[in-house]
This record gives sequence, structure tokens and C-alpha cells, in this order.
Amino acid sequence: MLDRINQLVEEIKALQASSAEEAEQLRIKYLSKKGLVSQLFDEFKTIANDQKREVGQVLNQLKVLTQDTITALKETHEGSQAATSGLDLSAPGVTLPLGSRHPLSIVKNEIADIFARLGFNIAEGPEIEDDYHVFTALNFPPEHPARDMQDTFFIATNPDILLRTHTSSVQVRVMEKQQPPLRAIFPGRVFRNEAISARAHCIFHQVEGLYIDKNVSFADLKQTLLYFAKEMFGADTKIRLRPSYFPFTEPSAEMDISCTLCGGKGCNVCKYSGWVEILGCGMVDPAVLDSNNIDSKTYTGFAFGMGIERITMLKYQIKDIRLFFENDVRFLNQFKSAY
Ligand code: DAH
Repeated sequence: MLDRINQLVEEIKALQASSAEEAEQLRIKYLSKKGLVSQLFDEFKTIANDQKREVGQVLNQLKVLTQDTITALKETHEGSQAATSGLDLSAPGVTLPLGSRHPLSIVKNEIADIFARLGFNIAEGPEIEDDYHVFTALNFPPEHPARDMQDTFFIATNPDILLRTHTSSVQVRVMEKQQPPLRAIFPGRVFRNEAISARAHCIFHQVEGLYIDKNVSFADLKQTLLYFAKEMFGADTKIRLRPSYFPFTEPSAEMDISCTLCGGKGCNVCKYSGWVEILGCGMVDPAVLDSNNIDSKTYTGFAFGMGIERITMLKYQIKDIRLFFENDVRFLNQFKSAY
């Protein structure tokens, strides 16, 4: 029996298979219930006891060798089958395309980053507000047209509750909680009852800024906004302040920047004036400070507010505000940015 085992060992060592099926045939030939190796195990039961130890050992080795050899043959062919079927197991995985940030988020983050360099924190307030925080505490007289149903979305059951029309309401929320020095911006969504067109939407975004401390002057406001304009639109950008009126600032101004498209020469974006308006600003009215428990004899401050859509449209030369709210990926995909 030993001879036959050794003969089989040699046979197994020389085994070859040209396909996985052939290897399977070999498994059946040697290892199935009636296979050659299994037959030897049957015979093993009949040999003399004093031989069992020696024969048993070699027989077991034969079995292990046969199993290993046939498994190895199968594996080689399974691999090559994958290769010939066009499946490259070493190829890198398919990566999913990366999304991109919304252009309004990119510009909001960039604005926050610029003001962070000047020491401005970020705060936020509620979108559903009351008359007090949106108007009264900001010195809007009771009959001011901004309170008119035309501009403001009120909650039907309670005219005191409304959707904020500007982020200036967050100024009030912050002043209520904190005494100066106070230096922060307030980005957020605002709502106005306006007809939707290429230039206006009933939902848009603003960033409000507020700086209150001892000795804050109009020169500080001007320098802060000049820095912002140059950082946002390029070092060649010029600013121009025009006197204006807001109930909560005195004096008030509107700021223009030199046209981002023609650089000031005149084009259809700036309506051939060379300038485009980007924000409202001014020195916080002492009445606003006092009604929010900040002593206007000790402190002064400036404030400003800008529309994020407007800044984004100027920066990227986007002609229709509605594009921001359609979420068409062909539009959104064009904005790749570090912000
Ligand atoms: N809240 C004003 C608006 O929505 C913008 C504005 C103007 C904000 C002057 C200010 C400011 O803080 O000082 O039109």
C-alpha cells in the first residue's frame, strides 16, 4: 500500500490543469467519495494494526498535498478567467464626482473670511421675527413705508410676527445680549413681498456688519469697507460713498464700487456710470444705541448691510438672480472654490 501511496504522491505533484473545470475534474478524480485518494482511505481500514501508524501518516500527507495542489490549480485559473473576461482586479476604484458649493455659500464664506481678518465674529438670528426687532428697535417710525404690507410678509393670525426683511434685526438681538466692544457680521436669509424678476426675488441673503466701541468713527467705517471691496473684487477696486437715509444710522451712506466689468470706463453693467452700488451703511444712530441699553455718550458704532446675491452677481457676472434658486446643476457645477 505504501508503494501505491508514493506513486500517487508523484502523480499529484505532476498534476496540471488548463482551466478551472479541468481542476474540478481532478478534484472529482482524486478527492470525491469514490476518488483515488478516498479509496485508499477505505483500504486503510483493512490493514494490519502494526502498520496503521506509518501508513496513516503518509496517507494523510497525500490527502493534504492533493487538496492543496488542486485548490492552487483552481485559483490560478479563476484569476486568469477574470483577466480574460476584461475585469482588471488591480484597477483603481471608480470615484464618484464631487459636488460643489452653492455660489451664494462660496461668497458668504469669502465675506466672512475677509471680515474675520479684521476681527469680526459671526452671529445669527431668527428668520421669523417680531416687529420690534425688525423695525421698532431700529428707529423705524410707526408709519414708515417699509412696514407696509407691500414689502413685508406678515403672519396672517398675528401682525406682530413677520419674516425679517433685513438682517439688521440681528443687530438688535446682539445688542440685547452684549455690551460693547462689539464687532460681528450677521449673514442670513431675508424675505420681501416683491415680484420675482431677473433682478429681484422674494427670498434673498444679506450680510450685516456691526462695530461698536469707544471712538469708532466714520473713517473706521470707510477704511473697513475699502479693505473689504479690495479683498472681494481686486486690489484696483475703488469705492465711493453717497449720502443716503436709513432710520437706524446717522449719517447714512450707500457705497458704490468701481464697475467690476469695465473697471470704471462705462458699460451696460454699470449703466455707463462706471460705478455699481453694493451696500448701505452709516454710523449707528444714538437713539438705536440708547434704546438697546448701550450708552451713546460713551460708545459710537458703525453698521453696514449688503446683499449676497448682488455681490455674487457682480463677482461672477451673473445676469439673472433666479438662477440661484433653480438648482440647475449645469449652473451650480461652474463654481469651484477654496471657500
Ligand atoms: N438693512 C438695509 C437694507 O436691507 C441695509 C443696511 C443699510 C444695513 C445701512 C445697515 C446700514 O446696517 O447701516 O436695505
